[in-house]
Amino acid sequence: MNAPGAPDGLGVSGAPGLPGALPGSPRPRIPSPLHAVDDDRFARHGVRLLLKRDDLIHPEVPGNKWRKLLPNLRAAVERGHTTLLTFGGAYSNHLRATAAAGRLLGLATVGVVRGEELAGRPLNPSLARCAADGMRLVFVDRATYRRKTEPEVVAGLLDRHGPCHLVPEGGSNALAVRGCAGLGRELRGRADVVAVACGTGGTLAGLAAGLAPGQRALGVAAVGGGFLARETERLQHEAFGGRRGDWAVDGRFHCGGYARTPPWLREFAEDFSTRHGVPVESLYVAKMLHGLLTSAAEGAFAPGTRLAAVLTGTV
Ligand SMILES: Cc1ncc(COP(=O)(O)O)c(C=O)c1O
Repeated sequence: MNAPGAPDGLGVSGAPGLPGALPGSPRPRIPSPLHAVDDDRFARHGVRLLLKRDDLIHPEVPGNKWRKLLPNLRAAVERGHTTLLTFGGAYSNHLRATAAAGRLLGLATVGVVRGEELAGRPLNPSLARCAADGMRLVFVDRATYRRKTEPEVVAGLLDRHGPCHLVPEGGSNALAVRGCAGLGRELRGRADVVAVACGTGGTLAGLAAGLAPGQRALGVAAVGGGFLARETERLQHEAFGGRRGDWAVDGRFHCGGYARTPPWLREFAEDFSTRHGVPVESLYVAKMLHGLLTSAAEGAFAPGTRLAAVLTGTV
């Protein structure tokens, strides 16, 4: 089914009618570029920093969104679904990418958003983009949102919105995790440690499974709660039937939780962006880069380590 030369079959259409490239938009850059950067803050500890530019994969469905959503879009089309229904917070990059992908593919999208109180307020820029892309926004209270995977809540949503392809929060299901294994495969032989920011653990779960023996994946939690190692393991079981690869989660750098971006972190992101000419997304990527800098200073990486940081999104 995969076209020759198309890594993971996601680079081009795998079969008639199934999305591999999104119509009316540039072809995806897969494999994404990997380049070394000079950064003395790492170099002084003997660490060679590489940037894996997943942010360049696609202008509207960048980074891990592409790797996770494409397999789900294919599954939706294969099953004859015309609507995607998914979940997210008010600043969710995943909701934005789903809305854009739906528009490009001609699929309807429904976004279930955490926070009933948002319903009566002007939309923030992120939700306004979703709405402009045609996403129907459904605001639910936090208690219902927490129960969003329970059968009664799911059945209620399907009753209201008709048959839908359901994509979980953050896009992390088994299809998505297998899609993210492509990221690991692209990095085989190119780095010793590969770092990625974590929200649900889906990207880390796939990345670690795709790396070669001897390579290590490091997840930097961008959210609090201490659930990520357990959740990453659960996702690996769902996608591959068991734990895969060498990986760990560092829970020290979430800065107080999801979407918490203190001024110093935003300054750090801007400075990194200026130094290296790359966009630094602040909810996830900035926290990961800051975590790597701190860890390098603590001597967490042996001299000579090639450390690849994955830029999983855009600003
Ligand atoms: C830019 C960016 N990086 C990383 C993540 C975390 O990915 P995961 O939910 O697979 O852990 C997200 C989640 O939405 C994201 O938007």
